[in-house]
Amino acid sequence: MSHQNPEENLNESPNEHFDDVLQRAAMSRRNLIRGGVGLAAMSTIPFMAACGGGGGSSAAPAPAPAPEKALGFSAIDKSLLDDVILPAGYTYSVVHATGDRLVSGIQPYSNTGAEADEWNMRVGDHHDGMDLYYIHPSGKYSPTDTGRAVLVMNHESSADAHFFHPHGQTTNGVNGKKFSQFSGNGGWDLGIRLESEVLKEINHHGVSVVELGKGSNGRWEYRLDSLYNRRVNGQTVMRIAGPDAHLADIRSFMVTAYDTTGASSRGTLNNCGHGKTPWGTYLACEENWATYFFMPSTAAALDTKTRTSRSRYGVISAGFTGTGVGSQGAPGQGWSAVASAGTDNRFGRWNVSAAGATAAADFRNEPNTFGFNVEIDPLTNGTPAKRVAMGRFAHEAAVCGLPVVGQPLAFYMGCDSRNEYIYKFVSTAVWSEADIGGGIAAGDKYLNEGKLYVAKFNDTGAGEWLELSFSNPLIRGYTPYVFANQADVLINARHAADAVGATKMDRPEWGAVNPANGDIYFTMTNNSAANRTPSTTNAANPRAYTDLDGRRQSGNPNGHIVRFKETGTTSTATSFTWDIFLFGAESTADAAINLSGLSAKNDFSSPDGLWFSKATGICWIQTDDGAYTDMTNCMLLAAIPGAVGDGRAITVNNTQGSATGSQNTFIGAALGDAKLRRFMVAPKGSEVTGITETADGRAIFVNIQHPGENTAAIGTNADFTYESQWPGNKGYGPTGRPRSATIVITRTDGGVIGL
Ligand code: FEO
Ligand code: CA
Ligand code: CA
Repeated sequence: MSHQNPEENLNESPNEHFDDVLQRAAMSRRNLIRGGVGLAAMSTIPFMAACGGGGGSSAAPAPAPAPEKALGFSAIDKSLLDDVILPAGYTYSVVHATGDRLVSGIQPYSNTGAEADEWNMRVGDHHDGMDLYYIHPSGKYSPTDTGRAVLVMNHESSADAHFFHPHGQTTNGVNGKKFSQFSGNGGWDLGIRLESEVLKEINHHGVSVVELGKGSNGRWEYRLDSLYNRRVNGQTVMRIAGPDAHLADIRSFMVTAYDTTGASSRGTLNNCGHGKTPWGTYLACEENWATYFFMPSTAAALDTKTRTSRSRYGVISAGFTGTGVGSQGAPGQGWSAVASAGTDNRFGRWNVSAAGATAAADFRNEPNTFGFNVEIDPLTNGTPAKRVAMGRFAHEAAVCGLPVVGQPLAFYMGCDSRNEYIYKFVSTAVWSEADIGGGIAAGDKYLNEGKLYVAKFNDTGAGEWLELSFSNPLIRGYTPYVFANQADVLINARHAADAVGATKMDRPEWGAVNPANGDIYFTMTNNSAANRTPSTTNAANPRAYTDLDGRRQSGNPNGHIVRFKETGTTSTATSFTWDIFLFGAESTADAAINLSGLSAKNDFSSPDGLWFSKATGICWIQTDDGAYTDMTNCMLLAAIPGAVGDGRAITVNNTQGSATGSQNTFIGAALGDAKLRRFMVAPKGSEVTGITETADGRAIFVNIQHPGENTAAIGTNADFTYESQWPGNKGYGPTGRPRSATIVITRTDGGVIGL
């Protein structure tokens, strides 16, 4: 989501200060000049030449070029309509929407907020990352089409829970105000909330599993009453899993009054992007979980180390310095503000003050139990596992590199907040196809033992993976946060990444891996004026400008897409080369901003979801934007990608207000209108996120999240003035309130999507 915690910069570490960048830039210039190429010529020299000889001789021979593909549809125009717009020859239908029932024993969704809490039997809200899992006749996962499949999906949020109640959220008996609007007396007034409302809000979060099939009309739909239909929510019991050698230490961070051994926790929240493991399980990534906790002033009784951890993760509001007594904390979602919170820990757990004598007597450690990749086996009803070895941060998504038999697996992960990092987890176990269908047991084999790295992008076009290990003197000797052990490093990975000097990025969102060559792509959705200025750019985040059109935002309001290639194309590489695949921009922007030469047929802003079709090789780009929305709703674009290093070195000249600066970087080959086209535009007030396909590439599933997101701001006292009424306005379900939904897109001639 665009409106939550990522707005805050919680990274006060000194990484990538301008002086350092300048120094390295000077070094790289000297190297170039020494090699006989002057700076003035940089914009014309091929990228790999500009990179010099760094590691060139050890690189694997270049694979034979794949046959060139061509997009087979006409790009569509931008749209502000309240509908899904597609190219000629394509059509969509809704698979399911928020609140659709999973069993026939309850009533169809009213879409009026009238229901009691039935969210364990209904599709959740805020559809996000998702994937399709074919079911083998044995009941295990099949990587190939078997004719039966489940669709597994994250239900990300929400901060805007007003649609779940008859007249919006109530607090202190007042209808129609968002909980967070109740502030006063210099702090947050929690008021009193109704248990019934809070339970609905907790339980529509999490993950849904639904069986899909084709109806008699040939359309994809979900199967009511399938035994595979299932919900994981904010209260589902989870196992805390991690490396054997550190598991006892890990659990000591997780001790709560719910489980005084720290072996289990309750719930998953704010699952944004996702991951699919090669063995056929689902990773639900916990993103903006920090916003759900209430941190009252009495929490100042917590020790300095705990408070330092919390402030780095945003559990404490920006006004809390981490040392002050009496500071007011973040308001949370109001889930602890029910009358019974003192006796019913389903509610009391969200208040993370140190109310008891020890951690075993209260919920001070509850925030330590969130911020992970949660592994779920979609085809069994087993206990999900929180994979601590993959680090704790604002997980956006977890994408596996191309698996190679006999080699470790690599998972690439973004931490989506301003100025945060890109991480990689490398398994100790080597990949065996015998583990396909192995479920959570296979997950225990691959996702508990391994190394966690963070990315540093150098100005030379090369990069390094820096291991987050307690044996690293930079971590062991780090003073802003004093680590106790390796468990502490994993649980406070943001601090560890600060310690080793990772590169601050413009909000890493999804990653995706090109199946043709293993290149890894990451969206940098945007960054704000306060956090990206001409003097704080780096080569991998090179733009800081003011968009003089429309929303007139500054920083890097339109975002970009970074990609990198591991040295030797191996999962265990500790170095890589990188370039910038695309820069988002308005097509009418100055050439210094519109560096990728986008046209009216493919200009976009704030890339977020990112995914490669295995069937077609198309790179699909989804947007979650607030910068270009005066001209268009969010969208889905199709790209035919090249490869890392197919472009050139450039110098970006930045102008942000009266500040100016220049930054050298590397850009991929221009795609032009032939290789980058707008494919879909979404309804009003929605973001486009989550995408997957059938194995034959003839159907793609796309999520439309929070249509009408701005409805609450428009409404008064809960009498909504709808920004959107999709999909009810197009004949799916009750009219009135907008609903997040999954759509399936097919071609009217039955062909593959996009080519
Ligand atoms: Fe949930 Fe980073 O978008
Ligand atoms: Ca986003
Ligand atoms: Ca996202």
